[in-house]
Amino acid sequence: MSDFSALLQKPEFPRSAKYDAGWMIDNQMGPNALWLVEWLCESLDLKPGMRVLDLGCGKAITSIFLAREFGVRVVAADLWMSPDNNWKRVVEAGVADLVCPIKAEAHALPFAAGYFDAVVSVDSYQYYGTDELYIDYLSRFVRPDGQFGIVEVGLARELDNGPPASLTEPQSNGKAFWEPACRSFKTAEFWRKLWRGSPLLTDVSVDMQADGWRHWRDFEVVVEAAGKSIFPSYAEALEKDHGQTIAFLRLTARRTAKESDDLYDPALGVKFGVDV
Ligand SMILES: C[S@@+](CC[C@H](N)C(=O)[O-])C[C@H]1O[C@@H](n2cnc3c(N)ncnc32)[C@H](O)[C@@H]1O
Repeated sequence: MSDFSALLQKPEFPRSAKYDAGWMIDNQMGPNALWLVEWLCESLDLKPGMRVLDLGCGKAITSIFLAREFGVRVVAADLWMSPDNNWKRVVEAGVADLVCPIKAEAHALPFAAGYFDAVVSVDSYQYYGTDELYIDYLSRFVRPDGQFGIVEVGLARELDNGPPASLTEPQSNGKAFWEPACRSFKTAEFWRKLWRGSPLLTDVSVDMQADGWRHWRDFEVVVEAAGKSIFPSYAEALEKDHGQTIAFLRLTARRTAKESDDLYDPALGVKFGVDV
């Protein structure tokens, strides 16, 4: 593979710039996860030794980044990716004492109440977090005053008339950007309302990454040039859209001290005496 290091050096992401370009490209699952998690961490207060859940960690490169950059202890949880392969990456990255990979489904998390100091999630939360009550469930695992930090693909504006042609029409490589699952992309206002509605959260803040679409497009171009695309490149559609529709959103909040309900608990029927 040619040397793509120079193309992956962005002044906005000085920490990510220290990581090997080939490693970043080999372990990508779409947008550049290190750039996204570095942007997220600007809004978090992570201290060495904190327990962090990296939910939907994919190939665990964000977990490795968090451990290396902040000395936090990370549970790297993912549904589709094998913890065996993630463990190999963790060991090779020299953070075996800080990162524990597991297979987990976001609605059936195997942790004690209040175990984590923070939950972090990069380019994943949109797959399960749009359910109004999900954040209440997730809050169960975070201690009072603990932190939430999510970065996800979202919308720069409401799509009252559906997605624009620039996203639905096939690109020259034959692939259209917009798929049915993109229905889960929501605006900053949607997330603000959803999270501010939860009695378990305080200090809710949602913002949009400046030039997020450009960063995604730039990374798509590099990954394609390196011959490492998992899917046909979305660069052309992102360029056409020019940030009119597609954006990266950052959600942060803190946990209140209120107790959370576990509405995904399969034993709930028994607890309430309606299924004995
Ligand atoms: C686009 S990938 C991003 C992975 C990684 N965070 C990154 O940025 O490279 C989305 C990840 O979300 C995970 N995911 C989707 N639904 C999930 C669920 N219900 N529970 C746990 N993980 C889930 C998938 O396994 C996948 O690895």
